[in-house]
Amino acid sequence: MSIESSVSRRPWLGWVLFLGTVVVVFLIGLFASTIVERRTEALVAYTPSTDIADREPRNEVWGRYFPREYQSYLRTRETTFRSKHNGSGLVDALAQDPNLVVLWAGYSFSKDYNQPRGHAWAVEDIRRTLRTGGPLDGKSGPMPNTCWSCKSPDVPRVMAEIGPAEFYRGTWAARGAEIVNAIGCADCHDPRTMNLRISRPALKEAFERQGKDITTATHQEMRSLVCAQCHVEYYFKGAGNYLTHPWDKGLAVEDMEAYYDAYDFSDWTHGLSRAPMLKAQHPGWELSRLGIHAQRGLACADCHMPYETQGGVKYTNHHVQSPLANIATTCQVCHRESEAVLMANVYERQDKNLEIRAAVERELVHAHVEAARAWEAGAGEAEMKPALTHIRHAQWRWDFAVASHGASFHAPLEVARILSSALEKAFQARLELARVLAAHGVTGPVLLPDLSTKEKAQRYVGLDMEALRREKQEFLEKVVPAWDRAAAEREKGYGPRPPQ
Ligand code: HEC
Ligand code: HEC
Ligand code: HEC
Ligand code: HEC
Repeated sequence: MSIESSVSRRPWLGWVLFLGTVVVVFLIGLFASTIVERRTEALVAYTPSTDIADREPRNEVWGRYFPREYQSYLRTRETTFRSKHNGSGLVDALAQDPNLVVLWAGYSFSKDYNQPRGHAWAVEDIRRTLRTGGPLDGKSGPMPNTCWSCKSPDVPRVMAEIGPAEFYRGTWAARGAEIVNAIGCADCHDPRTMNLRISRPALKEAFERQGKDITTATHQEMRSLVCAQCHVEYYFKGAGNYLTHPWDKGLAVEDMEAYYDAYDFSDWTHGLSRAPMLKAQHPGWELSRLGIHAQRGLACADCHMPYETQGGVKYTNHHVQSPLANIATTCQVCHRESEAVLMANVYERQDKNLEIRAAVERELVHAHVEAARAWEAGAGEAEMKPALTHIRHAQWRWDFAVASHGASFHAPLEVARILSSALEKAFQARLELARVLAAHGVTGPVLLPDLSTKEKAQRYVGLDMEALRREKQEFLEKVVPAWDRAAAEREKGYGPRPPQ
């Protein structure tokens, strides 16, 4: 007998089924809301008192009190995970894409550039990269001290001692013996309460200039703002290299471009085209705000630092990495689709943006080489200016989208929009250049050199890589061990000893 026929013979049965369903739905709802409450309770109750010094930079000292967070943080040293386009290993981005060498000709990024890896590597990687050079006096070196700003909890410690302006002054090598602990607890936490805390003055100052008070941020906003201390666009302002976020006109790519243009600021003059160039850093936070997840209230930590349970205790996994390494505790907290489907969603967005990116790079490389040819043919400053301005804007936009690691998933539509505008500007540049070239008698196509490998591209832009590598090797053998010895000596007298 079907339910329908029994209901039509016994009308009260319909009401019993209806009320039964109401009760069951109510109970499920109650259960779900207690789970959510428990989740917050477990975290709120977890504030043990510690005697960690206010700016304690040594992660292992914090680790004595918070073993789960510390152990998971240590796993940022793992290098094995790889997704289709990213991963935690050391990947040589210039070898993967030799066009980058030409795009950054005349700038240190053409010497060496790797994909990012885990936080625990930050200090080691900046010491090893050829970009920072190998000053054997342990003091000079091409980079300003500001370069350390996003690498270590020693940064807020030294800033508390000497002030930020003094910190930014001088070369990066001059404070090599001070900055030794990799990104860690003191970068994001107040040791007395374990609340999230902004340790970097530049972020506070940028908010202040926009009339906002960062101390009024909500808890959920803080779960992104701690990342925004580093995963953002910035530049080194003035002779003192003062770390500054160029947000005074707004956070969109055009707003920051207008900010830099108004200052006539450029990071370097291009080695081939002589265009006044901008290097985008990694405006990850700014771009991510324009994607659907941030717009629905998610924070960076929701995907990169998921909650996990160990021995009945709920804690935040501090192994910050690609969420694709752990889809069950990240995406699947909210989405019911299979791992394969979610992974495919990510790859589809990345692949499509990479297609536009490749087109922009092709056009930009052509533009730089054509501009070099135009100078050779005798073009003058005034004639070249419109083309060089287009090159500056095209490459700024390309870099903004590409250097914002993860952005083609975080905000795929905005990335596609930015890359398309870069493509349009690169075409404009080439159109202008064709006119200038023709005016100087160059009417045929300007041929590209062989850029099939990183080595060929580096030779083409005039780099002596052998010399750079020798210099770096000597620096790593002679200078770095002395820095580490000095740091170990200093740390003996710093802060309370960990409890045994
Ligand atoms: C990049 C920023 C960042 C760093 C570095 C960091 N944390 Fe956290 N930590 C967070 C975030 C985000 C949360 C989640 C806060 C929340 O939701 O209330 C958190 C939560 C915590 C909590 C609260 C309990 C929990 O697990 O949710 C403790 C304790 C903690 N972290 C300890 C540490 C220790 C120890 C270190 C150094 C080994 C460290 N953290 C490094 C961002 C960071
Ligand atoms: C103090 C600066 C700083 C803070 C704060 C910070 N990061 Fe990073 N992050 C870095 C640097 C520098 C690297 C690259 C390290 C390297 O390659 O040596 C990095 C790398 C990463 C990576 C790549 C890891 C991999 O395995 O490839 C991810 C993902 C990441 N950060 C996410 C976050 C998130 C999410 C937050 C906030 C919860 C955050 N970061 C906070 C500086 C920071
Ligand atoms: C805390 C919850 C949460 C987590 C974690 C989460 N998402 Fe989402 N996701 C959402 C919400 C909310 C939306 C917007 C859907 C809506 O409002 O209709 C969304 C939208 C999407 C969309 C559609 C976006 C578009 O282009 O329109 C995709 C694809 C997606 N998520 C994939 C993922 C993947 C992959 C992960 C893990 C890396 C993930 N999500 C993690 C909540 C989440
Ligand atoms: C909805 C989930 C989600 C949120 C929220 C999110 N991310 Fe991501 N993020 C991803 C995914 C997925 C990738 C691509 C990973 C891959 O390709 O392996 C990624 C990639 C990255 C990468 C590059 C990792 C690498 O290995 O190169 C960084 C850095 C990063 N995100 C930082 C952030 C920051 C900072 C925020 C907050 C402003 C944030 N993410 C918010 C899902 C998220």
